[in-house]
Amino acid sequence: MLIAQLSDLHICRAGETVFGGRDSAQSLARCVQTVNALRPQPDSVILTGDLVNTGHIDEYSRLKSMLALLDSRYYLMPGNHDERATMRQVFAEHDYLGTQGPMQYSVTCAGWRILALDTVVPGAEGGALDEARMRWLEATLAEQPTLPSIIFMHHPAFPTGIVHMDDGCVHEPRFWALLARQPQVKGVSCGHIHRAIFSQHAGMPVCVAPSTAAHLGLQLDAAEQFGVTDEPVGFLLHHCLGDEVRTHCVWVAAPA
Ligand SMILES: [Fe+2]
Ligand SMILES: [Fe+2]
Repeated sequence: MLIAQLSDLHICRAGETVFGGRDSAQSLARCVQTVNALRPQPDSVILTGDLVNTGHIDEYSRLKSMLALLDSRYYLMPGNHDERATMRQVFAEHDYLGTQGPMQYSVTCAGWRILALDTVVPGAEGGALDEARMRWLEATLAEQPTLPSIIFMHHPAFPTGIVHMDDGCVHEPRFWALLARQPQVKGVSCGHIHRAIFSQHAGMPVCVAPSTAAHLGLQLDAAEQFGVTDEPVGFLLHHCLGDEVRTHCVWVAAPA
């Protein structure tokens, strides 16, 4: 089973750029071509938030026309740059997004379970997991206690070490205490940081997907300047083998 994870797309309106002049639509188009060229094809593509840059309906319409070129089925999640109501309006046929509140769902695919956990707090850059979301996660995991599962969320729920970004992450001990009782969860994969990170937290494999739009600096010291870098964009490919996951980083070079 293969899941491609594209994150932090930051699609803007035609003629606009993001992150100091980056053409996020052009780089997403190259990522979509790269995903379509994968053999075998991913069983699913999950988009882990910051789908668009400001939440404007024109951005979502543009995104939708670009995602229509994906050969695999795709699933959407919100990030702090997204507007849930506008997402629901433009992607109305995506029933799993629900009609109100956090966009949380589970999908069963090729013997695995994909769980989308919404960490967005409307109007805030940082994320959170409140009581209701934790209850949803616990109940949803309990429905299928033996199916191997991966949890996707926009904000990492652990300190990443990227100084400028860590204030906005979800630091929720209850989340990790719950996962410690759920051996079917094989990993947690996030976005938001605009860098690829692979680690382990509370005994659980965790990772952060690169952005398809632009990368932010490797700021491990607060004294270092923080900003956009010229690193290639990319995405993650989660390869589920038996009940284990191999996660690959696929880099997509800028056009010559
Ligand atoms: Fe982002
Ligand atoms: Fe974000």
